[in-house]
Amino acid sequence: MSRYAHITGWGMAVPEHVMTNDDLAKMVDTSDEWIRTRTGIRERRIAAPDESTATLAADAAVEALKVAGVRPPDVDLIIVASSSPEHIFPATACLVQDMIGATKAGAFDLSAACTGFIYALNMAAQAIRTGNINTALVIGAETLSRIVNWQDRNTCVLFGDGAGAFVLQASDEPGGVIDAIMHADGSGADVLMLPAGGSKLPTSADTVAHGLHYVHMEGRPVFRFATRVMAEGVTEVLDKAGFPLEKVNLIIPHQANVRILEVAAKRLKLPMDKFVVNLDKYGNTSTASIPIAATEAANSGRLRPGDYVVFVGFGGGLTWGALLAQWTGPLPERPEISPERYRLWAKVRSAGLRLKRKVMSKVSSSENMGG
Ligand code: ACO
Repeated sequence: MSRYAHITGWGMAVPEHVMTNDDLAKMVDTSDEWIRTRTGIRERRIAAPDESTATLAADAAVEALKVAGVRPPDVDLIIVASSSPEHIFPATACLVQDMIGATKAGAFDLSAACTGFIYALNMAAQAIRTGNINTALVIGAETLSRIVNWQDRNTCVLFGDGAGAFVLQASDEPGGVIDAIMHADGSGADVLMLPAGGSKLPTSADTVAHGLHYVHMEGRPVFRFATRVMAEGVTEVLDKAGFPLEKVNLIIPHQANVRILEVAAKRLKLPMDKFVVNLDKYGNTSTASIPIAATEAANSGRLRPGDYVVFVGFGGGLTWGALLAQWTGPLPERPEISPERYRLWAKVRSAGLRLKRKVMSKVSSSENMGG
């Protein structure tokens, strides 16, 4: 019997603090007019000091679980796609697993820059289709404000913070993720990167002095690349699936620049109203932009059960990808659950486990010393 991976829950979390273009114009030599006409962005959200990639991811995950009616302990796999993870390791996904009380889940991060959510969705869907798992949480989460140079007008005007999440569930009913394409061109690695802080260029006083821990981007080559692959990606995934463009209800693209989307729409000969665009409110939230846009579309009734949707994205790597899905919504047997309660319980559980680990290490060290 065939198994299908359905998108049954969705959620988003954005920081409360809004930074407008006018706010930015007080910090760098730019203007609301320049940012709006060159990118379409009007404002973005900036994380508070007590927020992080993991906390935003966990908030979005809890929303998604609530929509799907899935208890955290029933999640088999958590994938967090992020360009601004909490650490090189451990994975942000493990922190989310602990925060939400997903006690059974395997958890890992996926690094494919802004294309990460599409890659992650495809990986989770494959794991469900093969029968390996039943339920997955796929999250895109970012605090890009922590890794952009607030003195570099070429980059700081573009990015924002936020997280979005999908719940994927197995079902025998046809629908859900239909097909996907994933591509990379590492020869373009240097046009969009975080040069330092990894093993090639470990953190040092020198890397910090030279601002190498900030996002480095050459806007024009990225723009040219993006306009090419956005339309190509949509066409390729539809050709692969043997699915006609006319039957696609909605395209949910990575939200980087409205001009990139306008070029893609023109190449595909589609009106702009086929595209979900919300970058005016959030800027480029990298891996989070597609699930945030999907959540807003679903919550407003623009994306409905049964609709065919193409997710398409591009980003550092360089990477690009597209995924065709039939939107499902919660499964019929959806129970009412309160993931917030699990979250509270998860906090207590985590504190207990930490304490136990401390006590055990004291006991074992005194045993080793013959105590
Ligand atoms: N305010 C005012 N002027 C600016 C600003 C700013 N914020 N930023 C750049 N400029 C200036 C430049 O210095 C340049 O001045 P010059 O002509 O005197 O040298 C001029 O504006 C034009 O600069 P361009 O780079 O040619 O501007 P362009 O029209 O290409 O727009 C932009 C720049 C918005 C960055 C565009 O290239 C773009 O969107 N590129 C793609 C970026 C992208 O999508 N990145 C995300 C990838 S996803 C990921 O993986 C994170």
